[in-house]
Amino acid sequence: MDRGQDCSTTEEWAAYRRSILAGRYWISPDGPRPRWKHDVFSRLLRVFGGVLRLTPLLARGVRNSLDLRLTELELAPKGWPAAFDGYRILHVTDTHLDILPAIAEAAAAMLDGIEVDLLALTGDVHGWARNPIHQSVEPLARALGGVRVRERRLAILGNHDPVEMIAALEPLGFETLVNRTTALVRDGVTVHVTGLDDVHDFYSLAARRALDARQDGFRVALVHSPEMADHAAAAGCGLYLSGHTHGGQICRPNGRPIFTQLVRCRHAASGVWRQGDMVGYTSPGLGVSPPMVRFNCRGGAALITLRCGENDR
Ligand SMILES: [Fe+2]
Repeated sequence: MDRGQDCSTTEEWAAYRRSILAGRYWISPDGPRPRWKHDVFSRLLRVFGGVLRLTPLLARGVRNSLDLRLTELELAPKGWPAAFDGYRILHVTDTHLDILPAIAEAAAAMLDGIEVDLLALTGDVHGWARNPIHQSVEPLARALGGVRVRERRLAILGNHDPVEMIAALEPLGFETLVNRTTALVRDGVTVHVTGLDDVHDFYSLAARRALDARQDGFRVALVHSPEMADHAAAAGCGLYLSGHTHGGQICRPNGRPIFTQLVRCRHAASGVWRQGDMVGYTSPGLGVSPPMVRFNCRGGAALITLRCGENDR
């Protein structure tokens, strides 16, 4: 299991994911890495969270976590088809609403009445593995209740999402892409959307194969972390949407993240970035990981309007 297994069936994929959870290594695109390092980091964060509880900073940090921003972006990736000019995507990620459920009400107020063509949910709906899954999915339904989606709701899994999240998201209208591609069609023109399973911890050759499969027409990659940016650009994707980093969640006063939780492609840790001809966006995410505070960094969602570039008309 040095570079990720070749999961040909859903059963093989689910078994592979569970074997990683039971093992001592996470698997990323560059190979396995020992889990103990992350376990030590998590313990240190718990100590930090315990210290925060003794200070007024905890209340301030939680208030910051509830202070969401709707980021409105207009992107014109090279080759975006004229038939899709003005196409609107609501990009939501890293909701983790079982950790801080009050974010659901703040999100519902922010998103109420928004109309989009596509709702893209790029993983980490869940937070703590020991919490039942409904504790993250039910508040997500409240958060998204006022959004009008004209066409598709597409989701992918994050590193905190169990296999069971796929079925849990179905009643909310989501189709979860696990290392496969779906087509958006307008006026006979097709945009291909490839959604990967999380690659930070659960990379498999199936993810790479889905990315490398030849598709004629514009290609969008939905990947929980930006750690496939180089591979996606090389495969011909023109747009890449991701999360995972929480924008750092706790940042320096200049807004730069202290930790990104990335093992590669660190240039793509937050905001809009480029990789060759591909445009990428890494969202700060709606929710938080423990400790459930934000400093010098706000969470939220992105409303993305896609424009056909002048040279593409
Ligand atoms: Fe996350």
